[in-house]
Amino acid sequence: MKKDLVSIRDLNKKEIEELFSLTARLKRDRPKHEKPLTGKVFALVFEKPSLRTRVTFEAGIFELGGSAIYLSPQDIGLGKRESVKDVAQNLSLWVSGIVARVFAHQTIEELAKYATIPVINALSDYEHPCQALADLFTIYERFGTFRNLKFVYIGDGNNVCRSLMLLAEICELEMWVATPKGYEPHKKSKVLNDPVEAIKDADVVYTDVWASMGQETEKEKRLKIFNPFQLNKELMSYAKPGCLIMHCLPAHRGEEITAEVIDSPNSIVLEQAANRLHTQKALMMQLTGQ
Ligand code: CP
Ligand code: NVA
Repeated sequence: MKKDLVSIRDLNKKEIEELFSLTARLKRDRPKHEKPLTGKVFALVFEKPSLRTRVTFEAGIFELGGSAIYLSPQDIGLGKRESVKDVAQNLSLWVSGIVARVFAHQTIEELAKYATIPVINALSDYEHPCQALADLFTIYERFGTFRNLKFVYIGDGNNVCRSLMLLAEICELEMWVATPKGYEPHKKSKVLNDPVEAIKDADVVYTDVWASMGQETEKEKRLKIFNPFQLNKELMSYAKPGCLIMHCLPAHRGEEITAEVIDSPNSIVLEQAANRLHTQKALMMQLTGQ
């Protein structure tokens, strides 16, 4: 049976532990590790822009010996020029895996349903599982454990927040979320509407943009609603001294986070970005059975 990563729910605890230990080994041994994707081609189907996800997948596939074909919205017209089902069935004839960044989560579910090769969610409106894997690996690398840590997400209960919550639950990392009313993620446990209450004694605090890709028309409205949730020096003063700062990037300085906070010595945003490469390499090896 082929295996996909559509949602964090597709992984169990054992698979996540294996993925993290493979990630650590690939990172340590780079660039001298094995090239198990030699002769394999991956299709990168992207409906939205990307810096980190596209480059880390392309570079990662290359470092593992394979090659990548990037397909922009103009190239494919997913669901417009051709149905998602037909695209999935055709790509399955030629390549070993599909990495897709889509608007509707249903699109990635349909790709996975009809493809006979592994499908990886490179961000949908509902989840961003590859981001969450890199983020929790980064926290684990820093602390060597998930025990006795308080991880707090402040801002929009969006795709990144959902994947982080699902993964934190499996990894038994204590996670709290603060969003404005009406912007909560799927799960309501440990979700507050008061950022000060949530951030108290945090070891790690995370934020993301207030208007995600596809929500551009809501931006002005959201800027007002989310204003009390800005990660700034004042809000950070309620966290533990030395609290680490995370953001999936791209960041909007002066909106969800101030420049002073994201550019401070406690910010680990570049460690997260670096680990996208390593975790995704491990993920591709795992999903293709290497
Ligand atoms: N964090 C992230 O997924 O970045 P990109 O949108 O640039 O890929
Ligand atoms: N929540 C953001 C994440 C970008 C990596 C978005 O979906 O645009």
